[in-house]
Amino acid sequence: MSSGVSLEYIENYIKSLIGESSGILKELEDYAKENSVPIVQKEVGNFLDLLINIKKPKKILELGTAIGYSSILMSLSSKNDSNITTIERNTDMVNIARQNIEKYGFKKNINLIEGDCLEVLSNLRDKYDIIFIDAGKGHYNHFLPHCLRLLEDNGIIVSDNALFRGMVASDKLVVRRKITIVKRMRKYLEMVSDNKKFITSVIPMGDGISITVRRD
Ligand SMILES: C[S@@+](CC[C@H](N)C(=O)[O-])C[C@H]1O[C@@H](n2cnc3c(N)ncnc32)[C@H](O)[C@@H]1O
Repeated sequence: MSSGVSLEYIENYIKSLIGESSGILKELEDYAKENSVPIVQKEVGNFLDLLINIKKPKKILELGTAIGYSSILMSLSSKNDSNITTIERNTDMVNIARQNIEKYGFKKNINLIEGDCLEVLSNLRDKYDIIFIDAGKGHYNHFLPHCLRLLEDNGIIVSDNALFRGMVASDKLVVRRKITIVKRMRKYLEMVSDNKKFITSVIPMGDGISITVRRD
């Protein structure tokens, strides 16, 4: 079924180019599928892999760990050369992610902080080369000021679910119980697009991603 963000045959074609994962990522993908845990879509995972190969980040901050799939993917992309801090508030997810991080040998690179992103963010002081926002779709606008404060001068913010099943782009698609999330996601996209100190590109990939950097 199409995500509502791009045409189904285009999505299928792009996915077919990326091909099947293997090893750790395949095991985690299978677990996520069997247990209905939302993880980044294939195209978005592939994009993160590409971005990390271009940017070669030393420090990455992730909002929303779930089972640790995207943290591990990013760690593999950087050949374990990045330090990843990832935040998750759901205790069950935290436990599973911790097990995965330990089992697959990523304890040195991935630091999982249990807590609500907003609270944890306000206590962080480090600067990050990449910030990946993938938690609490209705709060990206609240996370943004912290993310901008924590972003290295030439850092990159990538936000997943930016078009949220197409609803962000069209009132006709919005279902009543998602109105607040949609309004806040629009607010987030306006904040990053209207601020002339930043450049933002919204890409209809997966559930929609937005990429924000500081202007020179
Ligand atoms: C889409 S999943 C993350 C998937 C993960 N990035 C991956 O691709 O492997 C979103 C996660 O964010 C967590 N979450 C949602 N709101 C949060 C918040 N305010 N603070 C911390 N975690 C939150 C949820 O419990 C969920 O596990």
